[in-house]
Amino acid sequence: MPTSLPHFQLPLSAADFLRQYWQKAPLFMPGAAGGLDSPDADTLAGLALEDGVEARIIQGAGNGPWTLTQGPLEENIFSEVGEENWTLLVQSVDHFLTESSLLLDSFNFLPGWRLEDIMMSYATKGGSVGPHFDRYDVFLVQASGTRRWQIGDLCDDHSPRQPHPDLKLLAEMNVQKEFIAQPGDVLYLPPGVAHHGVAEDSDCITWSVGFRAPDYQILMAEIAGECLAEADSMLFSDPQRTPTNNPAILSDADRQQLIRGALDLLNPEAIEKAVYRWLSTPRQDGLEFAVDDHHIRIRDPEIALVRHGSTRLLMQGNRVWLNGEAHALTEQQRPLVQLLASQRRYTHNELEAVMSETAQELLHEWIEQGFFAPL
Ligand code: SIN
Ligand code: CO
Repeated sequence: MPTSLPHFQLPLSAADFLRQYWQKAPLFMPGAAGGLDSPDADTLAGLALEDGVEARIIQGAGNGPWTLTQGPLEENIFSEVGEENWTLLVQSVDHFLTESSLLLDSFNFLPGWRLEDIMMSYATKGGSVGPHFDRYDVFLVQASGTRRWQIGDLCDDHSPRQPHPDLKLLAEMNVQKEFIAQPGDVLYLPPGVAHHGVAEDSDCITWSVGFRAPDYQILMAEIAGECLAEADSMLFSDPQRTPTNNPAILSDADRQQLIRGALDLLNPEAIEKAVYRWLSTPRQDGLEFAVDDHHIRIRDPEIALVRHGSTRLLMQGNRVWLNGEAHALTEQQRPLVQLLASQRRYTHNELEAVMSETAQELLHEWIEQGFFAPL
């Protein structure tokens, strides 16, 4: 049983952090986090073998060679990898182990839609994923054991890479700083900063709180999809056509009519829908909501209810988006849903203050569907 729930505290004001470091510079924060003793390595390994869980193992150290074993993983993999120099990576652990998702409440100085997930790694001595950079902001939270972090320069897609077919490892890293992370230490890295973390012992668990930075190409595809789903099929027509004297060309008028017709399909309401739907969809969508003791082990008499780790909420005026679906809210339901969307655990008093009959009905429905769990 954990002694306290996962938590993190910036060692400076959120305003100062955002101004000086966010998306700009790395920051090492000794002792900034706590309550990280669950999951242990066995639980993480067990989760990695479960259906629908994204997991991989990277073997290698120093200058390589590096091997990637992509999930789904088989149980015997753990007897084959040896004693040292390997790392197990499990994606979106917060979606599966609700207790770990509570760490995300500590990041409420940023909008919730900006959060992606918590990836966790378990490494044996010498284990590492190699020198690399990520395209997203990340807070690397040391949960157990010790990891040596080397930090390099800012990289981009042109930075030389090792010739590995699956792993995007840097060919060289100019080490600028080094930190030894002990349990509770947190390293913030902005996108693009080269880093290399090596486990110093065989008890090394690191949580990566990753952020969502929408890729505009994907967002555009979502917008197009939503707009097309709402549009009726309409064909080009030209009943006022007059004879052409050059059948080889596309006239200015025809070109403009074609382009206008296509762009008219971009309707503002569907565009907004696409944005909210996408931002309120969890990284791993459509999970089976099996809310049981394995997933939710929080025992705090003050806490009456928790949000399931894979429930994602985003307010939009008088409606709320829950895992990609919009729900219209009554005036009486709004205060409850505002509370549910702002944090992940709720005390008896907090709930009582926002409860009404219709709010109770809505909450009951969402509990039935597994989006929330009473304790
Ligand atoms: C790890 O936890 O081993 C790797 C995390 C990272 O470097 O992004
Ligand atoms: Co990384």
